[in-house]
Amino acid sequence: MKRIGVLISGRGSNLGALIAAQKDAPYKIVLVISNIEGAYGLTRASEAGIATKVISHKGKSREAFDGELDMALRAAGVEIVCLAGFMRILSDGFARAWEGKLVNIHPSLLPAYKGTQVHERVIAARENQSGASVHFVVPELDAGPVIAQATVPVHADDSPDALAARVLAVEHKLYPEALRLLCDGKVTLQKGLAVFS
Ligand code: GAR
Repeated sequence: MKRIGVLISGRGSNLGALIAAQKDAPYKIVLVISNIEGAYGLTRASEAGIATKVISHKGKSREAFDGELDMALRAAGVEIVCLAGFMRILSDGFARAWEGKLVNIHPSLLPAYKGTQVHERVIAARENQSGASVHFVVPELDAGPVIAQATVPVHADDSPDALAARVLAVEHKLYPEALRLLCDGKVTLQKGLAVFS
């Protein structure tokens, strides 16, 4: 049973999916940290009986903020960290310290559409397909090796919100599946590559 820490900044629907899946999964979420006070994901965690913590990034250097995250995660005995709508860029030091044990979900088919405003850019480029990716986190933003992806169609008349909702629905299945692979040791990060066994 792997001990999971989840970092969030907002509504935490992916956190909700990870919580819902944990009853028959090889993991247990032991701590949820938000950098934003009042994030709805904190309520989801509390309702599920999971410890929560708010660590604000305001007025701190990236390294100082990440140091506080690291300390809280280690104090809770966390073994794997999941970013779930966590809208802060982590320092290289944090990414290296948790290498192979730090994963993120991103609402595009990486390596396409890294960064923000993903759905707006996908629609503007008239793509007919988009999706979501769970990937290992490396120092370079959204550049880590992909563990799992799911695709959705993009419709000609899509709004960014409509596309975001379609992508989010597949995220909720994808993240628990990818985390299960990682917890079971079926995917590992080796020399910068995701290796499946
Ligand atoms: C999700 O769509 C996730 O992929 C995205 O934020 C949303 C969070 O939703 N993450 C990123 O864009 C990371 N760069 P949630 O708070 O309901 O899980």
